[in-house]
Amino acid sequence: MHPFPFDVEQLRATVEAALDKATQLNSACPARLRESMRYSLLAGGKRLRPILVLLACETCGGKMETAMPAACAIEMIHTYSLIHDDLPAMDDDELRRGRATNHIQFDEATAILAGDALLTLAFEVLASQIEDKQLAGKAVWELARAAGASGMVGGQQADLEAESQKNLTIDNLNSIHQRKTGKLITCAVRMGAILAAASSEQLDALTEYSDAVGLAFQIADDLLDETGSVEKMGKGVQKDQAHHKLTYPALLGLEESRAQATKLVDSAVSALSLFGEQSRSLEAVARYAITRDR
Ligand code: IPE
Ligand code: IPE
Ligand code: MG
Ligand code: MG
Ligand code: MG
Repeated sequence: MHPFPFDVEQLRATVEAALDKATQLNSACPARLRESMRYSLLAGGKRLRPILVLLACETCGGKMETAMPAACAIEMIHTYSLIHDDLPAMDDDELRRGRATNHIQFDEATAILAGDALLTLAFEVLASQIEDKQLAGKAVWELARAAGASGMVGGQQADLEAESQKNLTIDNLNSIHQRKTGKLITCAVRMGAILAAASSEQLDALTEYSDAVGLAFQIADDLLDETGSVEKMGKGVQKDQAHHKLTYPALLGLEESRAQATKLVDSAVSALSLFGEQSRSLEAVARYAITRDR
């Protein structure tokens, strides 16, 4: 059975067309930098975060088009985080989205700069393409907070430090996962809602939903590192243990990790109750976050 009550391929295609357009760039951008940015950004990927932006907007009664700049911006930030995550100084990976990682295909300096450029472009897109400038300001704030030192970047630092730390607890791990992965997923949903002028009740409910989905999504990523296939994932597997990563399966084992992820998704779905039938799409995405095989 098709897992989504909406046309996910069509949504992905719409996002990809917008990403393609947003990265045409002018002639001041060196050709190799442009190529490197587009190489990773347009390499497929599940597009989970942009899809969440668009669905959250729709769930709150907005038009998806109004949230497209935020959908593009979050995918740019996410892709930059992947390019840097794969660098030799970080996770040192050679395969991503079914292709050679950016630094292998180009070179390390270009990969670092492509990440920098995608990070910056994300904020340019938000500031210039969201018509309501007050909402644009709110979106910029949300994304900066989620992506920065106390969000994704901080989580990445903590993830690397944890490789050489002993006796870390589940609370330490949750804090890492919430920052490195959870905050961008929550940000996706919140930006979509904000651009639909959601009520504070709606925003609170969606924040609770996405906090749970974000953690569950990273637990699934940890599980797929142990149980997934390179072909489906399009990235290396069974690397976390070799790198002494602090992960859910390392701390709790496969079965308990799966149980925790299921519990989180159930709580995410419960948080949607005030939307009734309107939130069937977001419910399906929550389930997909842990049932996926890629
Ligand atoms: C991978 O993200 C890195 C994590 C935060 C777990 P995704 O699993 O969303 O990767 P893509 O975007 O589909 O390539
Ligand atoms: C990545 O976590 C999180 C970010 C990129 C912010 P991982 O290092 O587990 O992601 P993969 O497994 O390489 O995709
Ligand atoms: Mg990593
Ligand atoms: Mg990694
Ligand atoms: Mg991983």
